Amino acid sequence: MPERLARQRPELADFWDHRFREGTTPWDAGRAPALLYDFAARYESIDGNGLCPASGRRWRVLLPGCGSAWEAAVLSDRGWETTALDFSVAAIAAARATLGDGWQGTLLCADFFSFDPEVPFDVIYERAFLCALPRRLWADYASRMAELLRRGGLLAGFFFLGDETGGPPFAIRQERLHELLATNFSCREDRPVDDSLPIFAGQERWQVWERR
Ligand SMILES: C[S@@+](CC[C@H](N)C(=O)[O-])C[C@H]1O[C@@H](n2cnc3c(N)ncnc32)[C@H](O)[C@@H]1O
Repeated sequence: MPERLARQRPELADFWDHRFREGTTPWDAGRAPALLYDFAARYESIDGNGLCPASGRRWRVLLPGCGSAWEAAVLSDRGWETTALDFSVAAIAAARATLGDGWQGTLLCADFFSFDPEVPFDVIYERAFLCALPRRLWADYASRMAELLRRGGLLAGFFFLGDETGGPPFAIRQERLHELLATNFSCREDRPVDDSLPIFAGQERWQVWERR
């Protein structure tokens, strides 16, 4: 496919490579959001030692479509066993710049839909990933999330809600999100977000979904 056409298709890495390389990244907050710190602190306090009660080990977290990976740096610093993944080479370069050479986590240039982790995750962090995917990939997103999380594992993060017109970012109706995830997940938290970037303002919700 000609490069010019590939750059217009968000299901392809070229689309994102191009945007990272030209510095057009309006989704990039340049920091981890406050609600992530709040979430991490609450779950770390469950067993009193910051460990995952289900495994007795460090929380094992995946950040798919990690982009610049600000949140991966924070979670790793807190002691979480962190895997950050993106299929864009340019995004991975941005993540490497954020994380630095001595980073203790795993940074993977790979496709979310086909990479092969050794064991399921305790937590998958969502931010601006579902809304980066064309709507025809959403059913695959939901089944892949269910496959990658252990039972009782959490899909936690920010969902971009709204009328399903245009994109990216591809907004999703709240009812559709519930339909997508209800097969394998139960909603545990649903809160408004008050520090969204302009591109997401008024349309973001913090949600936590537990894998049944
Ligand atoms: C809108 S950006 C969000 C980046 C980051 N999550 C953030 O909040 O700043 C979407 C990211 O998802 C990545 N992405 C899209 N489809 C992907 C896939 N199938 N596998 C891995 N990464 C993907 C893109 O390369 C891009 O970096």
